[in-house]
Amino acid sequence: MDCTLQIFVDDRWIDCAQIEFNGGLCQWNYPVTYAVDRTNVPLSLAERVDLGIRETRAIPAFLYDLVPQGAGRRFLLGELQLPDGADADFPLICAGALNPVGRIRVAEAVDYLDAHIARHPAARGLPGLMIDGIVLRSEEFKERMFLHGMLGTGTTAVQGAAPKYLLTRDRAGLLHGDAVLPDVDATQHFIAKLPRGNSPADEKVLRNEAAYMRVAAALGIRTHHDLPTLHGDVLLVPRFDRIARDGKVGRLHQESMASILGLAGFDLRPSLFEVVAGIRKVVTDPAAETLEFIKRDVLNLAMRNTDNHARNTAVQLTEGGKAQLTPLFDFAPMYLDPGSIPRALRWYRPDTRVELTDWSDVLAALPVPDDERETLATELKRFACQIERLPETMEEQDVDHDIIEFLTQSVDTQARQLKAR
Ligand SMILES: Nc1ncnc2c1ncn2[C@@H]1O[C@H](COP(=O)(O)OP(=O)(O)OP(=O)(O)O)[C@@H](O)[C@H]1O
Ligand SMILES: [Mg+2]
Repeated sequence: MDCTLQIFVDDRWIDCAQIEFNGGLCQWNYPVTYAVDRTNVPLSLAERVDLGIRETRAIPAFLYDLVPQGAGRRFLLGELQLPDGADADFPLICAGALNPVGRIRVAEAVDYLDAHIARHPAARGLPGLMIDGIVLRSEEFKERMFLHGMLGTGTTAVQGAAPKYLLTRDRAGLLHGDAVLPDVDATQHFIAKLPRGNSPADEKVLRNEAAYMRVAAALGIRTHHDLPTLHGDVLLVPRFDRIARDGKVGRLHQESMASILGLAGFDLRPSLFEVVAGIRKVVTDPAAETLEFIKRDVLNLAMRNTDNHARNTAVQLTEGGKAQLTPLFDFAPMYLDPGSIPRALRWYRPDTRVELTDWSDVLAALPVPDDERETLATELKRFACQIERLPETMEEQDVDHDIIEFLTQSVDTQARQLKAR
């Protein structure tokens, strides 16, 4: 089975790689003309552009960022009549990766959507919906989902466990499925995120995700200038990988840490020291991004966002060409999740593999120059004052009271550790 990857550069999609996957062997390369012209536009920050032919057992790690997960995966497995499992990943990409987050897509998946729409003539030229129509999951919205078969609304093109749709706002303010609205009509792009399940706890997690993001912004963590807003039980998250301007849509490179670390598959758990090393290898300003990542982890611990897996941190290339951590996403009180999610990634000391749970030990073990270690320590001490004020900040940003209360101890622990430095 083969597929062609396309990348969005200079306002258009161009072919950038051919992937061949037969049973246990995957072979891929950049086409010669691409390798010559586009040396600075890699598919992955871990796969520089050259003429080499790559051979791997599994499909390459960066392709896992395109594999449909959650509701989109289930839908597509049904359409393709495939049993679930690792063998389904590649066929799922070939049908579902038609407009993923970031700037890479699969040409065959675009054809798959076209064929699907051709089978459902009523799907053409549908008017947009107001956000209210989506919030109430109106009949109209359900019909639309079916007609576009969850493809046009991007359900197969965005990862994560919670059901979500990629929606685009037109000039009149109406929302459309992302893949069905032409770029020229687009003014803003969103991820509409629904609760993971039907329990009150699922709803509470999503509601507080909006407040958690405001808290992070108040603490100076890198957040998108447009923060998520809640509409009924739908969280509308403005996308930071798309820039709609003057009738054109720019698409920024975005890639998970799992991809940057070369992790093929899901649920692989690198140590946080490996994650930091991976970040430092690809970003423009390693010291600044290390500090940013550590501050995010302090907040994860203080506010018990336990779901810190390697796909919940990503790197982007900004319009100016700077490689940096993306604005924060998926930051929520995950300790409340009914599936009880323990902290996924931890600071395992590289030599002994023993978990470090105190920031002074983590800082001492970080492989950074000593002057940078000093700066990190100073900055984290400064951050401690903000952590001490966290209960008030959470109050100001409307985090639920019982959550603030529950976090008293974890906030204290973080503040104490950072000040002790
Ligand atoms: N504002 C955004 N702009 C661009 N991409 C985003 C944004 N927010 C999230 N993403 C991308 O969408 C994916 C899914 O979003 P998110 O992590 O919030 O979903 P989730 O279902 O809660 O995931 P999980 O299974 O980790 O709980 C992310 O992994 C990231 O690649
Ligand atoms: Mg996520």
